[in-house]
Amino acid sequence: MIRVKGIKKAFGKEHVLRGIDVELYPGKCNLIIGLSGSGKTVFLKSILGLHSVDSGTVEYDGRILGDLNKNETKKLRQEMGMVFQGSALFNSLSIEENVGLPLNFFSKMNLEEKADRIKFCLNRVRIPDDAFVKMPSELSGGMQKRVAIARAIVLNPKYLFCDEPNSGLDPETAIVIDKLIHDITHEFGMTTILNTHDMNSVLEIGDHVVLLQEGKKTWEGKKEDVLTTDEKAVVDYVFRSNLFKQMRSALVK
Ligand SMILES: Nc1ncnc2c1ncn2[C@@H]1O[C@H](COP(=O)(O)OP(=O)(O)OP(=O)(O)O)[C@@H](O)[C@H]1O
Ligand SMILES: [Mg+2]
Repeated sequence: MIRVKGIKKAFGKEHVLRGIDVELYPGKCNLIIGLSGSGKTVFLKSILGLHSVDSGTVEYDGRILGDLNKNETKKLRQEMGMVFQGSALFNSLSIEENVGLPLNFFSKMNLEEKADRIKFCLNRVRIPDDAFVKMPSELSGGMQKRVAIARAIVLNPKYLFCDEPNSGLDPETAIVIDKLIHDITHEFGMTTILNTHDMNSVLEIGDHVVLLQEGKKTWEGKKEDVLTTDEKAVVDYVFRSNLFKQMRSALVK
């Protein structure tokens, strides 16, 4: 479990995270939702340790980020997989080389073991063998996202971080990516933290949903609760349009 206690982060005078306490659960898709600018990316980067926080702690199964020695930090880093907006594949490397990169840096596997692991991960995200030698530019956006997921899980991480993993995809492909992340999370028991503003994602894969508003957690619950809760913060976020407001009236009748 990842335990976040009282984290605050400001950039100059702008207080972006204003004291967030939250627990993120293993084997679950923990979704962070909120309007653009509410602090989702800063939150993700802060718990990853990519931003230093001004106060508060982040605890990974009892290990407090920042209190670890060099070896412990290195071990924790290897337990983290990341899928960032826009896939972030290396254009000059083939698909299999992209996925193999973390193995070259962090594993002691021999060539055969690496090839097996790369094949397992790429096949798991349904990339066929004949695409392994292709370059990222030869793949569709949805396939590139799947390769990015394969790369994120190649070291068998305990924690998977995804920032808007389905942005820029059509609704059908977006759901395929969501379901893939959801299935992998449950299959491998990972603690997945996924930023999104896509309500489809929330309703499909939101095992645990956390709403951020102006750098504060204003609600948390399950996807089933999102549509029926009376919490003003959620109602305001989910049912912004008049059409959605009418749908809600029908639902809670
Ligand atoms: N490196 C930075 N320096 C200064 N301000 C920053 C920095 N990163 C983010 N911010 C500010 O923090 C606020 C929250 O940004 P953040 O990117 O976390 O929002 P978000 O919820 O992820 O939005 P979106 O849904 O558009 O991705 C914004 O006002 C942004 O300008
Ligand atoms: Mg963001």
